[in-house]
Amino acid sequence: MQPAHAAESAKAAQTCNNEATGITLPPGFCATIFADDIGHARQMTVGPDGTLYVNTWSGRYYKVNTPPPGGYVVALKDTKGGGHADVVQRFGDGPNDGGHGGTGIAFYNNAIYAESNDRIMRYTLKAGDVAPSGKGEVIVSGLPVTGDHPMHPIAITPKGDLLIDLGSATNACEQENRTPHSKGNEPCTEKDTRAGIWRYDANKTDQKFSAAGRYVSGIRNGEGIALDGSGRIFSTQHGRDQLHEDWPELYTAKQGQELPAEEVVELKQGADYGWPECYFDQTQKKLVLAPEYGGDGKKAGLCSGRTAPVAWFPGHWAPNDMVFYEAKSGAGSFPHAYDGGALIAFHGSWNRAPGPQEGYNVVFQPFHNGKATAGKYLVFADGFAGAVMEPGQAAFRPSGLAVAHDGALFISDDIHGRIWRVTYHGGNPDAQVAAAAKSPGAQSTSSSELPPEGIHPDAGKVTAGLPVPPGSSAQQVALGARVFAGQVGGATCSGCHGSDAKGSGIGADLTAGKWLWSDGSLSGIQQTIANGVPHPKEHSGVMPPMGGVQLSQDDLKAVSAYVWALGHQTH
Ligand code: HEC
Repeated sequence: MQPAHAAESAKAAQTCNNEATGITLPPGFCATIFADDIGHARQMTVGPDGTLYVNTWSGRYYKVNTPPPGGYVVALKDTKGGGHADVVQRFGDGPNDGGHGGTGIAFYNNAIYAESNDRIMRYTLKAGDVAPSGKGEVIVSGLPVTGDHPMHPIAITPKGDLLIDLGSATNACEQENRTPHSKGNEPCTEKDTRAGIWRYDANKTDQKFSAAGRYVSGIRNGEGIALDGSGRIFSTQHGRDQLHEDWPELYTAKQGQELPAEEVVELKQGADYGWPECYFDQTQKKLVLAPEYGGDGKKAGLCSGRTAPVAWFPGHWAPNDMVFYEAKSGAGSFPHAYDGGALIAFHGSWNRAPGPQEGYNVVFQPFHNGKATAGKYLVFADGFAGAVMEPGQAAFRPSGLAVAHDGALFISDDIHGRIWRVTYHGGNPDAQVAAAAKSPGAQSTSSSELPPEGIHPDAGKVTAGLPVPPGSSAQQVALGARVFAGQVGGATCSGCHGSDAKGSGIGADLTAGKWLWSDGSLSGIQQTIANGVPHPKEHSGVMPPMGGVQLSQDDLKAVSAYVWALGHQTH
């Protein structure tokens, strides 16, 4: 590189203010807000002319419930070179066509392939257009959209294999999903049509989803399917939940927070990566038998015959997308040390209580010739969550990644629909990989470092102004607040409902005074909490009985009184 250019780049690095965009990056990297408020942005792909295509998902899965008008797929183009998309065009089905949008998207053979409801659609581009104009053609229909993982990320290989992730409907194929001590179904028939990656022909229309199309199996939720520079195919996998909540005699709370690992696996046709019988324990570095299938936390059993991951990460971080960074020579290109490595977007945890929640970042995992050094990853981009790191209150949650032809990295967020464009301006192509600057604001409301009476930032004060239900006491309401926050009894109510109980994509707002499951009386609320909600009306996932733990009668009464009080505040 010319010295003059290097000096110029270094100057640019000094003046870029990443924190103003909501994230932190390693030294020399700069972010611009490429687009904002485009809906619940999920995965992305780049077209040959550099246009970024983003799939967005229905508000139904999120707290904010009004998707922008127009189609769910968004074309974004920066025609001025300022790092901001000045052309924004929406296409595909929108809310008014009965569409719910989706996650998966890929570019292949002059067309955008995107998930829409139960199908993968193809939208062919006309020469010179930024966005396609037609209604699109159905490539595959009939994808299952029920249960815990209704999203369908996709990837297309150069020879035209369309790979589709079908996440599991349940946590661990239990007879009663997410219920303490529920045994695993044997056989797990759910696996015939879920928890694997399916293969279809990207060049053929009107294919129907069926068990026959399965490519690999035993992946609970493989949201980030990516090809490396040599055409090897990898996928992330979300590890299971509730080892401690459902099997407290086998796993401590700490083990429940840490286990199992999140994984990256290499896809080999016909392989089985272990779900639901097995999970990967990163402390023992092996697949072990799940308690639902007779495991005790150590035994491997049939899992020694299943395929282990090539890289792994802390539990519950939720890897939602992955891209390999291949050498680029354009204006935004990263130092050589990033070549061949993977970037992984972690959506962030909800169930690490009573410890702090984690994830909400983008990680760099080095790879050499298809081999990763597991555990040797760095946090590349951080700070997305902002002041409060939990699903219902995080400012942003990373959900998609794409690399532009000039080497820039795009990162999407599915809360507000922000897209960042990240480029390198450090002027040193031989710079080593480095971690993102620590973000200033991040704290977790469920941090175990706070004093026992103070997990909630306002603990002690929270219940002072609340009404007390008939037959209950202010002390009970106060105890209930501590149960709710995970300080007493080990339940993770706040993980799903938010520490402010105002809800998230996976748990209802309990403060609005509207009740879906009872008449809102103290006994009605208590019954809902005791029984859980196996088939939610407005949220994905389920609420296990007592939130997934065995609460004592006193704790149950207390948390019911607290929830009653939240719903009966004078608004
Ligand atoms: C795994 C996520 C999860 C956990 C953990 C969880 N809930 Fe829920 N909760 C839900 C879902 C989902 C619903 C149903 C919402 C719907 O029907 O759309 C629900 C519903 C409820 C309702 C009924 C609200 C109504 O509209 O009638 C109450 C009350 C409630 N939860 C309290 C709790 C308490 C107290 C805890 C902790 C002991 C807890 N929840 C733990 C996910 C969760």
